[in-house]
Amino acid sequence: MTIRQRIAVIGGTGAEGGGIALRLAQAGYEVTIGSRSNEKAVEAADELTAILGGSARITGADNVTAADGADIVFLTVPYAAQRPTVDSIAAELRGKILVDATAPLMPPKVARVQLPEGGSAVTAIQEALGDDVRVVSALQNVAAEKLRDLEHEVPCDVLVCGDDGDARREVIALLAAARIRGIEAGPIANSAAAEALTSVIIAINRAHKVTGAGIRIVGI
Ligand SMILES: NC(=O)c1ccc[n+]([C@@H]2O[C@H](COP(=O)([O-])OP(=O)(O)OC[C@H]3O[C@@H](n4cnc5c(N)ncnc54)[C@H](OP(=O)(O)O)[C@@H]3O)[C@@H](O)[C@H]2O)c1
Repeated sequence: MTIRQRIAVIGGTGAEGGGIALRLAQAGYEVTIGSRSNEKAVEAADELTAILGGSARITGADNVTAADGADIVFLTVPYAAQRPTVDSIAAELRGKILVDATAPLMPPKVARVQLPEGGSAVTAIQEALGDDVRVVSALQNVAAEKLRDLEHEVPCDVLVCGDDGDARREVIALLAAARIRGIEAGPIANSAAAEALTSVIIAINRAHKVTGAGIRIVGI
């Protein structure tokens, strides 16, 4: 029997994190969403569970408890909250894979590429956490509404970057279970391209008056 990894989604009370939590729970994974507030997490988890219509259950906990109980931790918080949130769960992340969906959007000009000093928000997290945590960058280019449309597979691709090939492949397998095509996209430094693309996609959404533009890699 295959033992499935337990998943935490830190920031799972929000749009993007709730979407990935729904898909992974639907795929049969044990999912806990994390919040700064245990009460808010439990309330949001109950709402997500209701969407699943009894086919699966999502639980809620404060961020530290959620990260502590997981094998793989997703991070889905706004850029401004990325570093303080990671710092608050750094001990619980040791030995695990952190899947960081952060796009360094800097309001109000979110449709303009503004990468942080050093080039990549997710690479900075890998550098801060060190080798004890295998950071994988993913999901920057998929709209929450596509994740939450459980009737369909996600119609765009997800670039998956990380310095550890096994961790990248593990995340791609997780995404596949959630009916999302993850694409091997190289080392964590390449996350800069996925992070920049988020602003490009927002600009495309605006120009075309849509809300869910995405990217597709062809030729593979
Ligand atoms: N939304 C999308 O369609 C989309 C698409 C691609 C990528 N992303 C990326 O995914 C990440 C999450 O996006 P989102 O739209 O889901 O964000 P969001 O809904 O605005 O926030 C997600 C969660 O982050 C926590 N949070 C918010 N502000 C915080 C703060 N100042 N300090 C600590 N925690 C805070 C909140 O959880 P608690 O209050 O429960 O702690 C909130 O529910 C972002 O980096 C975004 O760029 C989003």
